[in-house]
Amino acid sequence: MDPVANPFSPGAGSRPPELAGREEIIRDAEVGLKRVIMGKNAQSQIFLGLRGTGKTVLLNEVLDIAEREGYISAFIEAPENKPLTEMIYPAMRQVLRKLSALEGAKHLATRGLQALRGFASVFKIKLGDVEIGVDADPGVADSGHLDIDLGDMFEAIGRAAQAAGKGWVLLIDEIQYLKEEELAAVIVAVHRMSQRKLPVMVFAGGLPQIAKLSGDAKSYSERLFVYPKIDALDEVAAHDAITKPLDAENVKIENDAISKINKMTSGYPFFLQEWGHHAWNVADGSPIDINDIERATEKAFARLDDGFFRVRFDRLTNAEVDYVEAMASLGSGPYKVNDVAKALGKDPKSLGPRRASIITKGMIYSPSYGEIDFTVPLFDDFLRRTRLEI
Ligand SMILES: Nc1ncnc2c1ncn2[C@@H]1O[C@H](COP(=O)(O)OP(=O)(O)OP(=O)(O)O)[C@@H](O)[C@H]1O
Ligand SMILES: [Mg+2]
Repeated sequence: MDPVANPFSPGAGSRPPELAGREEIIRDAEVGLKRVIMGKNAQSQIFLGLRGTGKTVLLNEVLDIAEREGYISAFIEAPENKPLTEMIYPAMRQVLRKLSALEGAKHLATRGLQALRGFASVFKIKLGDVEIGVDADPGVADSGHLDIDLGDMFEAIGRAAQAAGKGWVLLIDEIQYLKEEELAAVIVAVHRMSQRKLPVMVFAGGLPQIAKLSGDAKSYSERLFVYPKIDALDEVAAHDAITKPLDAENVKIENDAISKINKMTSGYPFFLQEWGHHAWNVADGSPIDINDIERATEKAFARLDDGFFRVRFDRLTNAEVDYVEAMASLGSGPYKVNDVAKALGKDPKSLGPRRASIITKGMIYSPSYGEIDFTVPLFDDFLRRTRLEI
């Protein structure tokens, strides 16, 4: 069929033609946003899920809702190798500048911008040729303790937003890349917002394993945040994800073809888009049948193996490749750390650093004590298919 009319949208963060199976999550986010801007309490949210499950898409959806509800928004992606302060600084500066143009918020936003200069100075943020530390507001956001200073900045923004009848929503993608003290600081700052009933909310997305928290941050995070699990779609939602976009184009698909797609994708959103996309392109017309899906499967694997899987594989060192291949050789996960060590003929303790490094790269995670699994769905299958030839 005409590739120009193809409704499917495989790709990182690209909005799917049908956002299937996420109604409850979206409704909860909307209720929370509506409450917080009215001065009521609601929990901030961290969407946790494997690669390609739709976390970024959901954050963008939340952003749209928030803007409709009167929030100014900022979307940042946690940097893998840089401090959070460097990413969050421009986001805070932008919201304060927007607020400073609004009636009622001008004075508070200007004070906020002064505090931000202190923040930039104490965290040594590189600002090109802009002078930092000049005209700052001494004693605000310049202690050098990230949790206190981020809290000061959130409070300055929250007060200015409140004065303008607005809110601020901060979206943080790839939150697993934050260092422990950075995540703790965000959580402590959110706690301050909730205590002061200021209209600031954080929505984040990340891999299932985020930094382990301790102390106050841990107890706050349990009360102040919910952690919706972003999983593969169930059968009904996966069916909708494929059939609804086709219906809109007056194209039918046969039942065994749908079953085959479900089997090949396990309901993972990214793979559903990929299979839908190829099924459309290879089919001669409506209805799409099982033969079309056989051909689509070949094309989907070819493209995934060269792209989605390949880019992730290429980030591993040779020793790390040995490790993940040993995992895949054991079948599908989760895997016992001890079994992987046995497959490699090594002592599990000696493999600790290697395992930690693969976790830091976001390729594997620990679903429970003594176990590991891939963060990329079907990665084990990719390794067996292309590397182990089993
Ligand atoms: N609910 C859904 N129904 C159908 N397709 C979806 C849904 N959510 C996301 N998708 C599709 O899945 C793909 C991946 O989405 P997205 O990039 O948001 O995932 P992610 O969880 O952020 O992945 P990563 O961890 O790699 O960043 C996109 O092609 C998107 O269109
Ligand atoms: Mg993403």
